[in-house]
Amino acid sequence: MTVVLREMTLRDLDAVGAIENASFSAPWSRGQFVEELTRDDRVWLVAEHGGRIVGYGGIMFAPDAAHLMNLATEAGWRRRGVASAIVVALAKRARARGLRSMTLEVRASNVAARRLYERFGFRVSGRRVAYYQDTGEDALLMWTETATPLAIDKAHRGEELMLAIETSCDETAAAVSCGGRETLSSVVATQMDFHARFGGVVPEIASRKHTEAIVGVVDEALELAGVSLGAIDAIAVTYGPGLIGALGVGLAYAKGLAFATGLPLVGVNHLEGHIVANTLADPTVQPPFVALIVSGGHTSLVHVPAWGEYRLLGSTLDDAAGEAFDKVAKLLGLGYPGGPAISRLAESGDPSAIAFPRAMLHSGDLDFSLSGLKTAVISYVRAEQAAGRSIDLPDLAASFQAAVIDVQVAKTVQAALMCGVERVCIGGGVAANVALRAALSRELARHGITLSVPPFHLCTDNAAMIGAAGHLALLRVDLLGPEAEARADLPIERDGI
Ligand code: KG4
Ligand code: ZN
Repeated sequence: MTVVLREMTLRDLDAVGAIENASFSAPWSRGQFVEELTRDDRVWLVAEHGGRIVGYGGIMFAPDAAHLMNLATEAGWRRRGVASAIVVALAKRARARGLRSMTLEVRASNVAARRLYERFGFRVSGRRVAYYQDTGEDALLMWTETATPLAIDKAHRGEELMLAIETSCDETAAAVSCGGRETLSSVVATQMDFHARFGGVVPEIASRKHTEAIVGVVDEALELAGVSLGAIDAIAVTYGPGLIGALGVGLAYAKGLAFATGLPLVGVNHLEGHIVANTLADPTVQPPFVALIVSGGHTSLVHVPAWGEYRLLGSTLDDAAGEAFDKVAKLLGLGYPGGPAISRLAESGDPSAIAFPRAMLHSGDLDFSLSGLKTAVISYVRAEQAAGRSIDLPDLAASFQAAVIDVQVAKTVQAALMCGVERVCIGGGVAANVALRAALSRELARHGITLSVPPFHLCTDNAAMIGAAGHLALLRVDLLGPEAEARADLPIERDGI
């Protein structure tokens, strides 16, 4: 598009007036525009294409905000990025004047205009009753940080620098990423050692450790990326699902940073992070696909027809896959986390030695249940001990692992066939399990379906994946305000834009 922006002059007013009259029921008069152009607390820009004016907009500089006075584009030039270019240029001027926020009023009935402003990051912040004298209609007040349209604009070009923060479970993580693709730094401080002696994550300890670590982890991520906070365009933070207290630490810190810097705060769903992590390992991964998320907190099958569109196909009715590994490991005295210990032992065991139940294998739906398997392992161990027999740990580990894997694989294949996809993505700590990867890859291949397997460090919790998901969320303008709260049960289910 060869549209150029320049300052409006008196000579433009014929063309501007024509667009104004065609756009609004109560258009501004020529005299009003003349008056505007004589004032030095205003900036008026026109968009020109081949010498013809196709749009314009202006702001007024108030002491604490820039106020968008008027914005219009010629009918044939709507939805072609002209309005967006004008808003971005005006936001830049406002920022250059040190103004961090931008406001506007829009007729309550003008849904199209409201949607347009929402796409630039404006949010409704109030209402002026009977504001418009011609009809007595209410005005909606809209508001945004001046940095927001600039960040959204950069995101559309894949150029925004995002600081991402993740504290949903027992990893304090921060990353700096560019355009959702390139990870400039990724720092993960794990608290695993502090939880190990309890055989699982203790929420109170998690919150406290996040509080201790967060400042250092964020600083380190910026330092490793070689950028200062001033170079960052947006801040992304996980606000659910997860441990409520742990999420709250990251969210509070991110809100503080956003408030201090005037940057937009992008809210990220942790599970979307696990899904999008697949693109960091392989940028060719694109929907449609089915994702299997298996971690300490989740076992979920999600259909992803397009980015931003997530349909939950099934999930665990009780324990998560990782939780089952951890609980069985605790029973066997193998320490925390249990997954790596069990999978290591399983390598030398016989997976068919003990016939553990494959819960819900033939339930016909895509849900899972793992607590029965855990009980079966406990009963087996007790019975063997009562009979005075010693337990073959590798056989037990291999048999337990096989029972988990069989169901995961069967349901994932079923989900992929049901959705008619050619690709399956995996994520979460249990996706690091070598036997699960091998079995999934083999069974999916029999149906011509490709398995995407991210490297281990992208399967477990990290903030690089939050930066990548944050890029998508910024494009959707999923912004959090100062009133936002963490949501322990934030659903993954969502419709497209
Ligand atoms: O995704 P993650 O780091 O944190 C959560 O969001 O929960 O997953 C941690 C879980 C733990 O339950 C751990 O036992 C499990 O992933 N895990 C494994 C393996 N490595 C980690 N489970 C099975 N096999 C593994 N190799
Ligand atoms: Zn996770």
